[in-house]
Amino acid sequence: MNIPFVDLKAQYATIKKEIDSAIFEVVESAGFIGGKKVTAFEENFASYVGAKYGVGTSSGTSALHLALKALGIGPGDEVITCCNTFIATTEAITHTGATPVIVDVEEKTLTIDPNLIEAAITPRTKAVIPVHLFGQPADMDAVRDIALRHSLKVVTDAAQAHGAMIHGDRRAILGDITCYSFYPGKNLGAYGDAGMLVTDEKDVADVVAILGNHGRYGKHTHKVEGYNYRLDAIQAAVLDVKLRYLDEWIERRRSRAKRYTEAFANGPVQPVGEVEERYHVYHLYVIRTAKRDELAAALGERGIATGIHYPIPIHLLDAYRHLGLPKGTFPVGERAAEEMLSLPIYAELTDEMVDTVVSAVGEILS
Ligand SMILES: Cc1ncc(COP(=O)(O)O)c(C=O)c1O
Repeated sequence: MNIPFVDLKAQYATIKKEIDSAIFEVVESAGFIGGKKVTAFEENFASYVGAKYGVGTSSGTSALHLALKALGIGPGDEVITCCNTFIATTEAITHTGATPVIVDVEEKTLTIDPNLIEAAITPRTKAVIPVHLFGQPADMDAVRDIALRHSLKVVTDAAQAHGAMIHGDRRAILGDITCYSFYPGKNLGAYGDAGMLVTDEKDVADVVAILGNHGRYGKHTHKVEGYNYRLDAIQAAVLDVKLRYLDEWIERRRSRAKRYTEAFANGPVQPVGEVEERYHVYHLYVIRTAKRDELAAALGERGIATGIHYPIPIHLLDAYRHLGLPKGTFPVGERAAEEMLSLPIYAELTDEMVDTVVSAVGEILS
């Protein structure tokens, strides 16, 4: 049985009628940029995650960049984040002219280790970016507490964590500004690039909306230079349809994850840990094994696709050699990067498919 890593065609088949009619509405109206579809989705998604304001963006990366710009972060400033994330998190920092300051992750969840944040703070530190990696929230209580004591802003990278919660509260995963990606394979995925930034602060939402639309205040009025970081109407229309199904899909993902975790309870691989009070939305189901590369290759030969998120920690990427952080600097994240493997997980994955993956993993590693 061939098991793809994600199956967006299977998802489309379940909602085809609604998606097609939402797209056609935009095409027929010829309102492709801005307009009521974008506003409706901004309001619906912000309300879903429990924030007051949502500003649609062209991607998760542009949401992160705009968030830092809106906070006035720029050259000479430092922003703290962790070593196990996608490069977009640190790109957003560098694109403002600020410097990324990297710390290691928690052993259990591979999210930012709050115990390491304070030692990384300097007089130049302006913000911290926790990443809700794989769909599991970082330890936001601890991060918020440190940020409060040191007057830092919290910009949350929730690119992988739509619908995640802490203690049953969706708002508990938010920072001063929270950024989402709707990259097609995400739990809530567009049919192209898309993102959103949410906040409770009207001033921030207003600044972001202006900056993301060429610094435009009114027709031909540009007090500042901005960016073309707008969410387009077709993506908003698709996302608004999919948002109605998100909770159902998350529950399916969680039940797939539970089935894997129960099956791996006695080995031969160790799932990345889940903290009970952190409601993990399982964008990715990640296991660890010292034989990662052999396992991935052998699963591939059997038609089971896998991924690695991420094989090279941020500080060891060529792009960040100038930070001068050699191998050995962040032992927890570095070891995880050598051992992690992401298995197929999506709402349409059947029990039989999960069991096929589990049996294959068992046979390969026995
Ligand atoms: C953790 C993380 N941050 C940021 C991004 C960037 O999002 P996008 O691809 O929409 O720019 C992604 C997704 O790709 C991500 O997984």
